[in-house]
Amino acid sequence: MAASRGKFSNKFGFIAAAAGSAVGLGNIWKFPFEVGKGGGSAFLIVYLLFSFVLCYPILVSEIAIGRRAQKSAALAFKPLGHPNWSIIGILGVFCAVVILSFYNVVSGWVLGYFVEMLLGNFEIGHHFEEYVTDIAEVGGYALAFLIGTAYIVSQGITKGIEKFSKILMPVLIIIILVLTIYALTLDRAMDGVKFYLVPDFSKLNLNVIYRALGQSFFSLSLGLGALMTYGSYLSRKENIVSAGALITIADVGIAFLAGLMIFPFVFSQGIEPEGGAGLIFMTMPGIFQSMGPSLGVIIGALFFLLLAFAALTSTISLMELPVAYMVDKHKIKRKYAVWYSAAVIFLLGIPSMLGNGYSEFFTNFITYVGADKPVNFMDFVTDVASNTLLPFGGLMVSIFSIYVWNRHKLFRELSHGHPKFPRTFLAKYISFSLQYISPPVLGAIFIITILEIFFGVQIF
Ligand code: PHE
Repeated sequence: MAASRGKFSNKFGFIAAAAGSAVGLGNIWKFPFEVGKGGGSAFLIVYLLFSFVLCYPILVSEIAIGRRAQKSAALAFKPLGHPNWSIIGILGVFCAVVILSFYNVVSGWVLGYFVEMLLGNFEIGHHFEEYVTDIAEVGGYALAFLIGTAYIVSQGITKGIEKFSKILMPVLIIIILVLTIYALTLDRAMDGVKFYLVPDFSKLNLNVIYRALGQSFFSLSLGLGALMTYGSYLSRKENIVSAGALITIADVGIAFLAGLMIFPFVFSQGIEPEGGAGLIFMTMPGIFQSMGPSLGVIIGALFFLLLAFAALTSTISLMELPVAYMVDKHKIKRKYAVWYSAAVIFLLGIPSMLGNGYSEFFTNFITYVGADKPVNFMDFVTDVASNTLLPFGGLMVSIFSIYVWNRHKLFRELSHGHPKFPRTFLAKYISFSLQYISPPVLGAIFIITILEIFFGVQIF
């Protein structure tokens, strides 16, 4: 049935789509505020380690599993001879729906800020907290964004996803580079750079490790089968190992650059780096304002517009998971699967929308045992789906690919498109990490954080 499922036309199409999935709000909105909350450089270092040592090998396995099976995440395990493992794929579909429900809300904020920048309303930076309680407005933008995503996904693989990814990513990188250079010329910029880059391990604790791990998975679109699904559309002529490396480097590189851009801006305006989910929305408008009215409008609108496109290539890949599942498993028409998913995702997103000050209940949603402050609904679902379940999915992928499917079959699949692979250094690196690093590290963090963070059991 492969033909009717659609295919990427070539390697560049796949890399653009996979990198488009990886690069999104996770890099430019979430990464900086997580760094801010996690004490700066301490978070950055742990994040870099996790991304390269642990996540890259899992990313390669995910793509290999998807390509071998020629099925989307939830159905990939059966053709490999292990139908019981489908539960991991289904868990991934669940995570995608949950993550997309709040991701879409933030995408709506981005769209709203794009319009505010066009109108020259730079003051909006000081009014983020009021802005997100205007439910009619943020709800409208979120709905518009979701409809855009659904429309593209309903158009199918090659026509929809590739076209958008290819053009816009490079433009976004250029604009961030230019803004980074500007950032570094500002007063107090160096305080920001210091906060971001000078190692300070006194800030390191379990919470930082937990969040940095979740961020690595989230940012690489890993642990829920998104790349498995994209891998299923990839031809066997292509080299997964090098494509995976490129995706990882691009994703981490852009997050790193976003941090280098944002912290000088944050410090030069005297904003608190611990500001949380509003960080870029509070910081960037003031910067555009400082460029003068006309340049500020142009650069500001362009920045939020491109950010919206970066978010779109990620929401497309998130929506692809429930859709591909329904199409592959239940033979539902793609169009119906798309609009059905969109409706569920929108409804699920409502508590995230309300939980930023509008509704007391969703704003102070839950206080973890032993914590002193409650977290809002969006933080709670981030903790469950992204910080906990994605690394758990990654743990399962590493165990599956080394022990269950087994290393020889993984290596054989990776050799398609790269015949010399088994004799390379990367082969040793990947199998060592999957075998000796992922299972103990991910397993330990999973158990310890569930006990400590969710149940308040004091281990350290
Ligand atoms: N990686 C995307 C980002 O950083 C988010 C995402 C997560 C997309 C999981 C797909 C799957 O914005």
